[in-house]
Amino acid sequence: MDHALKGGKPENLRCDCLILPVGPERALGATAKHLDERAGGQIKRALQRGDLGQSAGRTLLLAEPAGLRTPRLLLVQTGKPTLDPAGFRKIVRAAAAALVATGARDAVFCLDDIVVADRDPSWCAGEAVMAASEETYRFHDYLSEPGEALKVDLTRFDIHHGSAARASLDRAIEEAAAIAAGVAKARTLGNLPGNVCHPTYLAAEARKLGSGEKRMTVRILEEKQLANLGMGAFLSVTAGTDQPAKLIVMEYRGGAQKAQPLVLVGKGITFDTGGISIKPGAGMDEMKFDMCGAASVFGTMQAVVAMGLPLNVVGLVAAAENMPSGSASRPGDIVKTMSGQTVEILNTDAEGRMVLCDTLTYAERYKPQAVVDVATLTGACVIALGNHASGLFSNDDTLSAELLQAGENSGDRAWRMPLWEDYQQQLRSNFADMANVGGREAGSVTAACFLSRFTRNYRWAHLDVAGSAWLSGAKKGATGRPVRLLVEWLRSHVN
Ligand code: BES
Ligand code: MN
Ligand code: ZN
Repeated sequence: MDHALKGGKPENLRCDCLILPVGPERALGATAKHLDERAGGQIKRALQRGDLGQSAGRTLLLAEPAGLRTPRLLLVQTGKPTLDPAGFRKIVRAAAAALVATGARDAVFCLDDIVVADRDPSWCAGEAVMAASEETYRFHDYLSEPGEALKVDLTRFDIHHGSAARASLDRAIEEAAAIAAGVAKARTLGNLPGNVCHPTYLAAEARKLGSGEKRMTVRILEEKQLANLGMGAFLSVTAGTDQPAKLIVMEYRGGAQKAQPLVLVGKGITFDTGGISIKPGAGMDEMKFDMCGAASVFGTMQAVVAMGLPLNVVGLVAAAENMPSGSASRPGDIVKTMSGQTVEILNTDAEGRMVLCDTLTYAERYKPQAVVDVATLTGACVIALGNHASGLFSNDDTLSAELLQAGENSGDRAWRMPLWEDYQQQLRSNFADMANVGGREAGSVTAACFLSRFTRNYRWAHLDVAGSAWLSGAKKGATGRPVRLLVEWLRSHVN
């Protein structure tokens, strides 16, 4: 989708649909009042009839408004004159959804009357662009006939602002489009089925990201190289599948030569059957989403490249498929990790931490400023937080605060969970340095505790996105989280 900033008088805007936020009838903003006058009072009369309602996010489509140059005027109720950021997100999403349901091919969102506490017009423009992208996202590559409900006519979504500084609005719109494209990339990779999106597919995606991009180097480590590195835990996961595992390395150099990189690590289990500790059949299809952590690393790297952030960022993706077979790892198997520590595999379904621990050890070579891993790691995290917050675990209070703040700022929130020493004992094994599972209690915490044993040499945070990375039920599909959080966090490191 294309975006641009429009200036000039709003009544002169030519477009398929003009979106006008309006407050309560007696508190109409200056632009709404002005347009109402041009339209001979049509807006006020609609409000007086009660057609728009009072609650925030209600929309009303007025056809062929008099005095304007658009065939559609879409009113959206703000509910009050001054919005908070979450309230503004809600109304732009509602407006975008109503817009997509029309046949409009291009639209202009009129920002002039919008006042959001502690946010400037540039922020509002960015949020509107991201909402439009989110609402027009479709995944129908595998439908023979997409059908009307999935049709999207919209190809342009512009912003109108009569007075705010042009340069900063332009930049905000551009950056929002880059982030939105990263979110969409993560959603699509997540939605692709396991028979298409296997580790080799992800490796090809990484090469595509790097091609023609001077600041980006992409390397793919094959199983043989993983063996040479001593990654016994990573390799134990891929033992049962015919799909070759890959450790995907993406190095982006946008910062100073000597600046230490920020490293992102993604769990890329392209399908998780559980292995020999096989999962129950019901709902197992959703384990194609077990590479959503990896997908968010791809989406974030894509956005970082598009924005040209002046930072050094490394993306590491641990890509493998977890299958049962005659060559699969068994419960009770003991493997040696790249760190030298040994692990007793008590449950082959706890595979995410097995691929991640060796990848986290690999990350040491970058002498990173910080490492953030993203993983659909535990069902227990879904029980704890549902799909509203990603679980955050960290060995560093400053890093943790940065990530929580990035979540608040972007609306892609995380919530900190404990990583206390007290939980570590649950990983005790009679036969190896540790077990790969810690029992039913505090399952997301013991999973993080397991990872913490491989991240002692740098500042580290772990995002368990098992609940936030995809939705189940009628809205089944990848959400693209936590791309927005990660990009926001990276941006906070610029300067
Ligand atoms: N990919 C799953 C976690 C998961 C399960 C995410 C359900 C979302 C919904 C992970 O590999 C897994 O199977 N974890 C086990 C760990 C257990 C064996 C300690 C789990 O959560 O049951
Ligand atoms: Mn599993
Ligand atoms: Zn898994």
